[in-house]
Amino acid sequence: MLDDSSVGMKMDKKEKVWLDGRLIGIDEAKVSILSYGLHYGWGIYEGLRAYDTNKGRAVFRLKDHMARFLDSARFMQLDVPYSIDELCDAVKEVCRSNGPQADYVRPLAYYGENGELGLSAVNVPTHVAIMTIHMGAYIRGGAPGASLVTSSWEKPSNRATSLTAKVCGNYVNSILAKKEAMRQGADEALMLNHSGSVAEASAENVFMVRHGKIITPGLAEGILEGVTRDTVMQLARELDIEVVERNITRGELIIADEVFLTGTAAELHPVRSLDGIPIGKDVPGPVTARLRDMYAKATCGEMTQFSDWVDLIDEKPARRRKK
Ligand SMILES: Cc1ncc(COP(=O)(O)O)c(C=O)c1O
Repeated sequence: MLDDSSVGMKMDKKEKVWLDGRLIGIDEAKVSILSYGLHYGWGIYEGLRAYDTNKGRAVFRLKDHMARFLDSARFMQLDVPYSIDELCDAVKEVCRSNGPQADYVRPLAYYGENGELGLSAVNVPTHVAIMTIHMGAYIRGGAPGASLVTSSWEKPSNRATSLTAKVCGNYVNSILAKKEAMRQGADEALMLNHSGSVAEASAENVFMVRHGKIITPGLAEGILEGVTRDTVMQLARELDIEVVERNITRGELIIADEVFLTGTAAELHPVRSLDGIPIGKDVPGPVTARLRDMYAKATCGEMTQFSDWVDLIDEKPARRRKK
């Protein structure tokens, strides 16, 4: 069993990886040094979480994540030779095999090798891997709520790449921002876009509560269309709280009543400060706390109106064949 005290994620060497349709040991899962995925970040990935529910262990919003996986692959022109149902089955298979400590799932599709190098590569095989790790809490600052610092690195615009696709290479920018925040002793980086508006954090979407509304940047601001973002927007509407998508300035975040982050890894995480300035009165604020409770219930299948968000891993599918 791995503990939660370390920074980052750890993989148990005994765990299995699903690679190109086969469940194999991690040490057997090798990548060629000539892989385009390695040289150019030519790949796409997903991140999902598994939770305990009263009906057994389940993956949260499995189909939505795998739909985004296939959309990201389409954007990067990666030919993933599996249907969404096959990919969902594979995620469950890996979770079943790796047991309850596997709380985070990482599907990855990348361009392999063809004996050449260069950006015009054609006829290169796409490899698909699905692995799990034990993650526990992703933001582990210890204090209630995350401290954010504004990154000096700008979020790339939608004219530079697609931010709605989860492209491996896009994450160089997130790594620069996260490392910079960590050097400053903060938990997360707030990233502004080319016009100076709030985009998102290094791996989370950003929300603020102001004048009784929940406000979050729209897709044009250069954000990932987060599955957790969508979950929280639907939960807020259940509470009859108005949700607005519009651009947000850094100054507005500082004077917001509440700010929180959403992401599969971070879940719904309150923000306590931005650039050293405390935000709101309480951490978490009342709206954040209510939504966080609802989110925890939803992930454990306790909200019957959203029971289709929860996919039991022990529900074995009828066997389907590769396309
Ligand atoms: C850049 C970025 N923004 C936002 C998110 C949150 O997305 P989701 O809620 O789908 O995990 C992530 C996590 O994948 C991310 O990497």
